Formats: sequence, C-alpha cells, structure tokens
Amino acid sequence: MITRMLGCSVKELEAAAEIIKSGGVVGIPTETVYGLAANAFDAEAVRKIFAAKGRPADNPLIVHISSLSMINDIASYVPPLVGDLAKRFWPGPLTMIMPKSEKIPLVTSGGLDTVGIRFPSHPVAMRLIGLCGVPLAAPSANLSGSPSPTSAKRVFDDMNGRIPAIVDGGESDVGVESTVIAFEGDGVRILRPGGITREMLLEVCPSVTVDSGVLNEISPDAVARSPGMKYKHYAPKAEVRIIRGSLEAYREYVAKNAQDGDCCLLFSESEAVGGVPYICYGKSSKEQAHGLFEALRVLDERGAKRVFARCPETDGVGLAVYNRILRAAGFCIIDSEVQE
Ligand code: TXA
Ligand code: MG
Repeated sequence: MITRMLGCSVKELEAAAEIIKSGGVVGIPTETVYGLAANAFDAEAVRKIFAAKGRPADNPLIVHISSLSMINDIASYVPPLVGDLAKRFWPGPLTMIMPKSEKIPLVTSGGLDTVGIRFPSHPVAMRLIGLCGVPLAAPSANLSGSPSPTSAKRVFDDMNGRIPAIVDGGESDVGVESTVIAFEGDGVRILRPGGITREMLLEVCPSVTVDSGVLNEISPDAVARSPGMKYKHYAPKAEVRIIRGSLEAYREYVAKNAQDGDCCLLFSESEAVGGVPYICYGKSSKEQAHGLFEALRVLDERGAKRVFARCPETDGVGLAVYNRILRAAGFCIIDSEVQE
C-alpha cells in the first residue's frame, strides 16, 4: 500500500473523508497528537486501526465528535456533569468515559461496555468529522509502544505502507494525549492526565481523584481502569532514567556516570554537563508537553543508548509530562540527592 500525504484543501479533506466513509483508515491531525481515524460504528474499519498499530485488542479507542448532538448515538447514558464539562473544555483535550450505546461495536470499546468520547479543537479534525458525518474512532497514530506522533512526518515514519493516507495539519499544539476521565460519585477520576489539568477540572467538578495508575506501575495481569495504562508506552529504544533532585545533584550524577552513547534530556541548555550530548525540550511544563514525544523520537534517531532525564514538575500539565516520561523510563527513577 502506498501512503498518500494530503494537505488541508477542501479537495484533499474530501478525499480523506471518502477513504474513511468507504471503511478505510486515515492519519489525522488533532491538537493533542495525530490520530489514526476510522468510522467508529464500522467494526471492520476499526479492526484495520488495530492491525495498523499492532495494538492489543483489549485497549479501547477514543471516539471523536464534531458536535454535541453526536453523543446521543455513542453513549447510552450521559452523566450530569458532562454538560458543564463540555461547556468549559470542549472542543479540547478532554476525553469523558460513558456507558456505550449499542451502535458502538465492542471492537471499538476494546470489549468494554463504556466508551471514551472527545470533541477535538483542531479545525482540520473538526472539518473531517463533519465531512464523514459519523464519529471517528482514533487512537494515537504511532505503532503500539512508540511515542505518539506530533507531526504528519512522524505518522509517516510509523505508518508508511500501513494506511492509505495521512492529512498534514501541522504540528500538534498540546503535544501529549487528552486527559481521560471517568465519572465517580459526585466528581471525576483522572485515568490519564493531559492538557486539561486536575486544577482546571476542579473549577467544574466537586471532586477530582487522580487514579493510582497515573503515577504507579500496574502489573500486566491487573485489571486496569484504563487498559492503556498497563502497557509499556512511549518507549524509545534507549534506556531512560529519570534523575530526581536539584540541578546540582543531577549534574553530579551525570558527571559521575556518563559513558559514550549516553545523552541528557534537559529542560534548557543551561543545565548541560560538559561533554555529554543533550536534547532540550522546554522550560515550562507547557513547552515540555509540546516537545516531549518529538524529543524521544530524536533520541532514537541519534542512537542514544542511555538517557538521563531531568525530573518534570507534577502540577498543572506537568503531571501529564511526568506520567509519559515515567512510562518511557519504565518507572526507573533515581534519587540523585541520596547518591554518594
Ligand atoms: O488525545 C488523544 O486522546 C489522542 C487523539 C488522537 O485524540 N488519542 C489517544 O488515543 O491518545 P489512544 O488510544 O492512544 O489512548 C486512549 C487511552 C488509552 O489509554 C485507553 O485505554 C483509554 O484512553 N480509554 C479509551 N476508552 C476507554 C474506556 N472506555 N475506559 C477506560 N479507558 C479508556
Ligand atoms: Mg496511544
């Protein structure tokens, strides 16, 4: 299969919509990361997404909408908080889990009786969903286990020959995937942190719980609330270590331990340790979210063997950055302050 790169002209978006309407899969831009989209109601089409990614069948897909009325065909029950959350955060990087309707095939929901729904804010994503006239199931457009792609080129790197087309809508703005929430009691539980932060959700919800799987490893046999959390994720080929502690302690740790083939993953150039190669991905949590996945891919291209990463903040969107880097590191954290 030859993978076509499409731009955002009306003609090209119509061509992409034609592929989706006839049961195919297309790489599409969203404000979080690129997605692999197919008709969420078409089990055969959705199976092609799982095949293209090499994704385990029990990991459910998020269903994307371009108008609130589409929810009624996807969910069998809409929790009362959805209205306020949608008003405040949609279109945007928030996925809400609800009981699924009969119309959503079990393939789409990974065998669950619930479905994650998201209204993306990327204008191209919105236009495409509108042109298709059906909600689109779309996981991140990476091969299963690789960092999510934040540009059409990175989708091509993973999906060339596996899908018929990719729509190039520029770089993804947020850079990490959407916040996934489930409804619980009078509030919500964050299953995956993202661009809509805990602090922002608290403006609308009486209570917000961060699921223990966000910061802790889930054993592969455990029943995860969000199946995606139990899989190794975002992993570059390099062995990543998160070095927790002050900048001084970080520098000392790297100076003592660095060998040929090692690379530092820094927030800014000023943190570099003499002679050790480095990549910077941003000073603020927002910049870090935007740049993390691309940085992980560049580390692989450079053939880094071991990566010493500075430890992100855990407030605001920093929690999403920390959650992703923890998985990239296979939960390997080193406390540099207590090293001799
Ligand atoms: O920003 C995003 O959410 C991107 C773009 C393309 O929209 N999509 C994305 O999809 O990240 P994916 O499939 O890579 O991640 C979806 C996550 C997985 O961890 C999955 O287990 C969880 O959401 N999820 C989806 N439906 C769920 C459900 N019904 N119950 C629990 N977790 C669910
Ligand atoms: Mg993904």
